[in-house]
Amino acid sequence: MKKKIALITGISGQDGAYLAEFLLKKNYVVVGTDRRSARMSHWRLDRLQITNKIHFEEMELGETFEIERIFNKYKFDEVYNLAAQSFVGTSFNSPLSTANITGLGVLRILEAIRTKNPSTKFYQASSSEMFGDVIEKFQNEKTPFNPQSPYAISKVFAHNLAVNYRNSYKMFVVSGILFNHESPLRGEEFVTRKIVKGLVKIVNKNLDCLELGNLEAKRDWGYAKEYVQAMWKMLQKNKAEDYVVSTGKTYSIKEFINLCINYLNIEATWIGSGINTRLVDKKSKRTFIKINKKYFRPAEVNYLKGDFAKAKKYLKWEPKTSLKKLVKIMIDDELKFYR
Ligand code: GDD
Repeated sequence: MKKKIALITGISGQDGAYLAEFLLKKNYVVVGTDRRSARMSHWRLDRLQITNKIHFEEMELGETFEIERIFNKYKFDEVYNLAAQSFVGTSFNSPLSTANITGLGVLRILEAIRTKNPSTKFYQASSSEMFGDVIEKFQNEKTPFNPQSPYAISKVFAHNLAVNYRNSYKMFVVSGILFNHESPLRGEEFVTRKIVKGLVKIVNKNLDCLELGNLEAKRDWGYAKEYVQAMWKMLQKNKAEDYVVSTGKTYSIKEFINLCINYLNIEATWIGSGINTRLVDKKSKRTFIKINKKYFRPAEVNYLKGDFAKAKKYLKWEPKTSLKKLVKIMIDDELKFYR
């Protein structure tokens, strides 16, 4: 049987790497693109030992001619658009490039598919950040968006475009509205990996004190390796529809830290409040974690909790890894660097 060909944009990111591993196991030919600046950092693919199985192509989502070149060269069965300027904090400093890549980049790909091979199935990485300052306490596919950052606004633009192309041109276009998903392959600028890395460094006497921003924000965190399977399942359905992918549970950053210190047997306690909150060693009173205002965002998303009932019913997908287990997976992996 002829092998299916999939394009993964943003292949060098966390989700790109796990999805590539998953599709390769399913016998796909995987073409992967990333930014030129990300070319040298294939550490995630290296760690999964799949780098030499990927067909790499250079493609910037800002460059229409590069996108067209790839779509002229290959006839894809499936395209997974995971490329984005994906750090919410950065989008406040770089709103134009975020809008160009995270928003308009999706339009460039949709146009390439529409004009060159409209039967290609397209997955768009939508985000729970689109719910922003949430209108409903438990967010599902019908919850109105209320984005709070240039990143989230760009994602809403892309999401609406995806719906529009599906309705206007009968193209197979789906959006997965994924809530936060983490793993040992998470970038160090995101809060879970930053905390895990920082606390493991502190335990190993490589760091005095970790500085963080808003500890009260709540997130619905799942395991990235499971979430990429939902992406694939969406493209195997007969009908193109959007799905929320989440755990249905929410925890504050502080609660995440508490799970980490429990697992690492760190004897510490919280003191102070607001900007003066600190995590201190119970015996020596040394500060392990303190707040630095520079990590606060001009506008914050305070609370996210996703309802994955539709994915469970129609994709037969549900999360399997608790946050406690995810903390263990991430810390055990981080500790490997110290053995
Ligand atoms: N990054 C970071 N660094 N975040 C911090 C810090 C810090 O030092 N201190 C507190 N936070 C808070 C942020 O203010 C935010 O409320 C929360 O931790 C999570 O931040 P991130 O881990 O950076 O993720 P995010 O929720 O903004 O966005 C991620 O998830 C989205 C899905 O909902 C990203 O992966 C997005 O690309 C993705 O769409």
